[in-house]
Amino acid sequence: MCGVVGYIGQENCAPIILNGLKKLEYRGYDSAGLAISETPDVLKIIRAEGKLSNLERIFTQEPFEGSRGLGHIRWATHGAPTEVNAHPHVAGSIVLAHNGIIENYLYLRDKLASEGREFTSATDTEVVAHLIDSELENADDLHHAVRKALSQIEGSYAFVVMSVNEPETLVVARNAAPMVLGRNENAAFAASDIPAVLEHTRKFVFLNDGDTAVLTREKTSIFDAQGLPVDRPEKLIQWDPISAEKQGYKHFMLKEIFEQPTRIIDTLRGRTDLDAGDINLNEVDLDDAFLEQVNKITIIACGTSYYSAMVGKYLIEGHARIPVEVDLASEYRYRNPIVDGKTLCIAISQSGETADTLAALREAKKLGAKTMCICNVIESTIARESDAILYTHAGPEIAVASTKASTTQLVALSMLAIWLGRRKNTMSAEDGRAWIEALRAVPTAIETILNDLDPYKDIAKQFSSAISFLYLGRGAQFPVALEGALKLKEISYIHAEGYASGEMKHGPIALIDENMPIVAIAPNDDVYEKTVSNVMEAKARQGKIIAIVEEGDDNLSRVADVVIEIPTVDQRVQPIITYVAVQLISYFIADFKGTDIDQPRNLAKSVTVE
Ligand code: G6P
Repeated sequence: MCGVVGYIGQENCAPIILNGLKKLEYRGYDSAGLAISETPDVLKIIRAEGKLSNLERIFTQEPFEGSRGLGHIRWATHGAPTEVNAHPHVAGSIVLAHNGIIENYLYLRDKLASEGREFTSATDTEVVAHLIDSELENADDLHHAVRKALSQIEGSYAFVVMSVNEPETLVVARNAAPMVLGRNENAAFAASDIPAVLEHTRKFVFLNDGDTAVLTREKTSIFDAQGLPVDRPEKLIQWDPISAEKQGYKHFMLKEIFEQPTRIIDTLRGRTDLDAGDINLNEVDLDDAFLEQVNKITIIACGTSYYSAMVGKYLIEGHARIPVEVDLASEYRYRNPIVDGKTLCIAISQSGETADTLAALREAKKLGAKTMCICNVIESTIARESDAILYTHAGPEIAVASTKASTTQLVALSMLAIWLGRRKNTMSAEDGRAWIEALRAVPTAIETILNDLDPYKDIAKQFSSAISFLYLGRGAQFPVALEGALKLKEISYIHAEGYASGEMKHGPIALIDENMPIVAIAPNDDVYEKTVSNVMEAKARQGKIIAIVEEGDDNLSRVADVVIEIPTVDQRVQPIITYVAVQLISYFIADFKGTDIDQPRNLAKSVTVE
C-alpha cells in the first residue's frame, strides 16, 4: 500500500525522504514521486513508474535541494501505475501525497470540473489537491483550507500537503490510514510508518482519526476532528533502527525466518509463570466478570493472520472449552453476525492497519461485543480501537510474506488459551505448566530446523518447475497446510492449494498425477495415522510426496520422495514448528526461481483499502 514521507527542517531533505521511502518499500508499491521546495516559491517534482530506483535515477541525473519536501510510493487503486498517476499531485499552489481511498471522488471531481478545474490523472488524490486549492480562496491559511476540504471528503486518508504560498509549513491529515509524526532538534517528520524516519528520531506522536497537524521547523501543532488544538502523547520507540535492515541476509524474509527463535522469546518474556502453570496477562484488559460470562469467541483476520486464527480455534476450543468461530474479516461485517455482550471478538493483525479487519472489529464493537486484538505494531489503529491488546513483540516485519509475525501470533494464541483455560477451570496447573514448558522449548526446536536447510534446497531443485502444489494437513495442521500453500503462491507464483487431508478424496485427488508435488504435514499427533492413509491414497496416484514428519518417523518417511524431519515437540506447539518448515519450502523455491521475494508482484504488506 502507499507510503508517505514528509520533512520540514534545516537539512537538505531529498536524501532523507528517498531513504525514508526505501524503508517503506515493504508496503508494496508500483510507482514513486518526490517534491522538494527548492526555494520558498519553487517546488521541484519528479515521478517515476516502477521501483524507487527509477525515481532515484532521475534524481541523480539532475539533483535538487531544499529543506522542505514530501515523497510517496504508490500502490495503484484509481488509475494504472503510470508516471502521470504517481504522487505527488499538484493543483494550483498545492502539492499533495496521499495514502487511502477517497470514496466520493467522482462526485467531487465532477463538481470541481464544472468549476473549470482540469485533471491530469485518473486518481482520487488529485481531486483532494484541487479541492484544497479551491478552498484556499476562502480560507485563512493552508491548514484552514485543508480542514474545509476534509469536511467534504468521504473515505480513508493519510496525507501530507504543502503550498508554495506557505513555505514554512507542512500540513498533515489522517483518517483510517496510518500516519506518525516525529521530531528531533532540527526537523519535523511525517510518515506512514515508524521505520521510515527511525534513524532521525525515536520520539513519535500517533495521530487519531480526524486529526490534522501543522508542522513547522520549530513546532508541531495537532488539532482534533473539531479543529481544536489537542495534545497527543509522545511515545519513545525502543527498537534499534538496525532491526529494520537486512543484516547480511539475502532477503528480509530469510532474516525474519531466522529471527523467529528470538522473537518468540520476546513474545513469552515476562508472561509465563511456570510455578503456577499460568500466564500473566495483566496487560490484557478483560475483567473477571466478563470472562465468567463469555460464551463465544469470534476471531477475525485476513491472509496469514487468518490461518493463525484457525490454529487459535483448535487451541482455545480444545483447551479453554469456549466455542470459537473464525471469520475472514472481509466476510464478517456483511454476514449479519450474531453478537451480544457475551461475545469476545479478537482481531488478529500484524500491521494493525488492515482495512477489512479494522472494519470487522468496528462492526463487532457496534453490535456489542467486547473486543481484543493480537497485534504486532504498537499504537496501530486496530490496537488503539480494541478494548484489550495482546502485542506479539515480533519487531518490524519488512518482507511482505509474514513469517515471524505469524509464529508469534501462534505463541500469543497459545498463551491466551492457557490463560482462558486456567480462568475457566478447564485446565489444571499441571497442564498449564506442561504447555508453558513446551512453548519455552519452541525456540530451540526452530533453531534445529534452521541448522539444516539442505532438504529445502533439495526440494527447490526438484520441484521449482511444478505447475501446482497440494498441501495436506489434519487438525491443527490443516491451517498450516493453508498457510503453506498461501506462502508458496505469494512469493514463488506457483499455484498451490491447502486442503484438509481427509477432504482430498472429495476433489483434489482428481488433480494428482506424477507431476504433482504433495506436501504432507504429518507430525506425530492424534490424527497421524489418518493423515498417513490419505497420503498413501495420493502416493497410489503417482503424486510426489514431500513429507514433513518428526525425527525418527518410520512410516511416512519410507514412502515419501523427500523427507523433512522436524524435532519432536508437544502436540500443542507443533503448528509453530511446522509453520517454519512450510516457510522454508516456499522461500527456497522462490529463491531458486529468482522472484522478488520481499516484494512480490501485486501484493502489499499493509492493506489499508477494503
Ligand atoms: C496482506 C499481507 C499478508 C498479511 C495480510 C493481513 O495481504 O500481504 O502477508 O497476512 O495482509 O495483514 P495483517 O497486517 O492484518 O496481519
